[in-house]
Amino acid sequence: MELEEQRNGMNQGGEYALQMKDICKSFPGVKALENVSLNVKKGEVHALMGENGAGKSTLMKILAGIYTPDEGEIFLNGEKVEFHDPRDALHRGISMIHQELSFISEMTVAENIFLGREPRFGRTALIRKRKQREMAFELLQRLHIQLDPGKKMSALSVADMQMVEIAKALSNDANIIVMDEPTSAITDREVEKLFAIINMLTEQGKSIIYISHKMDEIFKIADQITILRDGTYVDSRKASDLNDDLLISLMVGRELKEVFQTRVPTIKNVFMKVENLSLAGKFESVSLSVKKGEILGIAGLVGAGRTEVVESIFGIHPPDRGDIYIDDKRVVHKHPKDAIQNGIALVTEDRKQTGLNLAGTVRDNISLVNLSKMAKFNKIIVRKKECQAVDEQIKTLKIKTPTRDMLVKNLSGGNQQKIVIAKWLLNNPKILILDEPTRGIDIGAKAEIYKIIQDFADEGNSVIMISSEMPELIGMCDRITVMSGGKVTGEFLREEFNQEKIMACCTGYMKGEKVV
Ligand SMILES: Nc1ncnc2c1ncn2[C@@H]1O[C@H](COP(=O)(O)OP(=O)(O)OP(=O)(O)O)[C@@H](O)[C@H]1O
Ligand SMILES: [Mg+2]
Repeated sequence: MELEEQRNGMNQGGEYALQMKDICKSFPGVKALENVSLNVKKGEVHALMGENGAGKSTLMKILAGIYTPDEGEIFLNGEKVEFHDPRDALHRGISMIHQELSFISEMTVAENIFLGREPRFGRTALIRKRKQREMAFELLQRLHIQLDPGKKMSALSVADMQMVEIAKALSNDANIIVMDEPTSAITDREVEKLFAIINMLTEQGKSIIYISHKMDEIFKIADQITILRDGTYVDSRKASDLNDDLLISLMVGRELKEVFQTRVPTIKNVFMKVENLSLAGKFESVSLSVKKGEILGIAGLVGAGRTEVVESIFGIHPPDRGDIYIDDKRVVHKHPKDAIQNGIALVTEDRKQTGLNLAGTVRDNISLVNLSKMAKFNKIIVRKKECQAVDEQIKTLKIKTPTRDMLVKNLSGGNQQKIVIAKWLLNNPKILILDEPTRGIDIGAKAEIYKIIQDFADEGNSVIMISSEMPELIGMCDRITVMSGGKVTGEFLREEFNQEKIMACCTGYMKGEKVV
């Protein structure tokens, strides 16, 4: 009874800005939500927590009018509402920052922010471009986001793209703002900026629903936390009544073992070495190496050139100068297929752009790289082998999907990321390069992915891992190379790992003094 009351709060005194009651939603083969309730007060930051596939995004898409619930009711300030499309929800003051960045890359920042709501000349279809740009400029200024509204989206970094999405959601002057993993691609400094904006909004009495897998963010910003597990409501508590361990056990429904397993690496000779790699405007004279059996981390801030270096190694943007050696043999990668042939796999930072075919099935995606290898056999055998291999990956990586024939675009964000990793593992690479591999992945799945990476290295393979999460690098790597401003600024062996010193190399400064 108590749970019932807590779940379906009475809204006495109208303290709740939003109430979602007994929401159910099924997709073919999946019960995404079953009797889920959510009560959000005015002026509060309400975190929605749960593992990958728990139903967080689905619940929020129902709130935003993107999906219609099978059952359940929604109340805004005590008044029952029904949304038939996203515009309905927007009119009622609900705005959402989506987990997937959704913009038109050939349009400018300003055009994207006001897409569908362009200022027009009178009743004509003519868009007031200058006015629109001014409005965007004013909005970005107000949010302290330094971006040129006339710039094309395609020219922005992923971090800036995410800032545009945030600005867009705030341009509607909504009362309830849903942020579905808004910080997955932005830097610490921008996170601080976002938190300042959130504080400003809650002071104005607006409510924020915040989704993130980053525990520290949740405890910094949330007032109340509602937990979902496998599409069901688990609990809702004050953030101050919870701690990391308690929250995790509510999310996973079990005690979590060590996130990072200790391992004694067997490190052999150098597998890949790059010397004085340069690409104009991106990075300069970068030298680094990774041994067999070794996990090398590359630390750095967003914009340090880490992604560009590994993309160069992989043949996406070949370097202007410098050499790459694999097993002491000089190689040239003019195209990713050259790199793949030499045993390199790259799990990209931005899975939507380069990692996944969203319109394809789980099977299409996992077996994509591998196809040429399998095509040698008879077609029927290929198909059978392919299905076996795909099912094995689904099992090992615990990918939450009803079948291998599910469309990837219908999987939860974290499960899509696992598919990118599965796809490359199946290709039996000798070196796995991972760019922010656990972005958007829940803590339980993270531990699984760490284990997979470690096992891969322990088989005598090499790993290069780029991550903005320092604990992840320190927990996983045997050695860390640091980059800043397109150059290598430091290197640390496991026994020398020190968060402060690594950070100093990332920023190029130590207590006001330049390190390099
Ligand atoms: N359009 C859809 N069609 C079919 N199944 C879907 C669709 N959208 C979501 N699902 C399924 O519903 C379940 C809940 O997914 P949801 O995206 O809400 O999870 P989530 O909690 O946001 O996870 P994550 O932390 O990984 O983003 C998953 O099993 C997912 O595959
Ligand atoms: Mg989600």
